[in-house]
Amino acid sequence: MKVRLASKRDVATDICEFEWVSIDGSPLPPFTAGAHIDVHVSDVLVRQYSLCNAPSETHRYCVGVLRDPASRGGSVGMHALAVGAMLEISAPRNHFPLAEHAEHSILLAGGIGVTPILCMAEALSASDASFEVHYCTREPARMGFRERFARDDLAAKTHLYFDNEGGRADLDAILAQPCGGKHLYVCGPAGFIDAVVSRAAAARWPEGNVHREYFAAPGQTDADDDKPFQVKLLSSGRVIDVKAGETLVAALAAQGVDVQTSCEQGVCGTCLTRVVDGTPDHRDVYLTDEERAANDQMLPCCSRSKSAMLVLDL
Ligand code: FES
Repeated sequence: MKVRLASKRDVATDICEFEWVSIDGSPLPPFTAGAHIDVHVSDVLVRQYSLCNAPSETHRYCVGVLRDPASRGGSVGMHALAVGAMLEISAPRNHFPLAEHAEHSILLAGGIGVTPILCMAEALSASDASFEVHYCTREPARMGFRERFARDDLAAKTHLYFDNEGGRADLDAILAQPCGGKHLYVCGPAGFIDAVVSRAAAARWPEGNVHREYFAAPGQTDADDDKPFQVKLLSSGRVIDVKAGETLVAALAAQGVDVQTSCEQGVCGTCLTRVVDGTPDHRDVYLTDEERAANDQMLPCCSRSKSAMLVLDL
């Protein structure tokens, strides 16, 4: 759907909040806390951004974007947009939903990972649920949405940590007492998420109670390690060669088989495909460890094959 940039404001150093509204003033599709939209920043750039306004609002979508010159162009392109700009977005999708009926929720945000976490905290607060927020940034100037965290209902439950003041979060203490009714949510840079997830595993959190949302895939495996393999299409029996250094979706597209993609980094889940036979070499950050171990689905935008042949439900 096409939307218009109604406003744009700085909320912290290098972080800007963008407010999108429908072109004709009609209500936007509803969403739940943790949802994201795909933003077509340009003809060739699609990026996922978490919604950070209240899910009860249908007149706008707000996203917070960190300007990252080292990114592949999405955040720089977003920051260059002027109020009034019109572009395409997807309807909201939620791969990071709050668990229903949790006894207690621990929300952990690193840097710009705060956007879905803020939305979740406000949703939990609105339903009088038990929760706590831990928000880690490099320095106070990089803390976004300060005024919303300062509200009475969030301030008492929010713990702030600033690296430049030596205020590291004590993950072992925060994660010390897992139980079946407690859920953990983490969003931020890959290193931050990995640290939290590994500390949670060490503290014996049930995997199903640990929820994570990546913004970008951690470092990809060196393409020099890639091996060629073949993929067989279940529908037609056609066999297609995938060369070393070529992605599976690119090999398929070259043979006229289109798989819908968005992030092309194994983050968003758009290209999720069922695996009928063979063993994928999972390189995404979308599937859980359990889902990966089942080897019955994969993200062909980034993942490859450990077996000589993969049979896919295409
Ligand atoms: Fe996003 Fe494949 S396109 S996971």
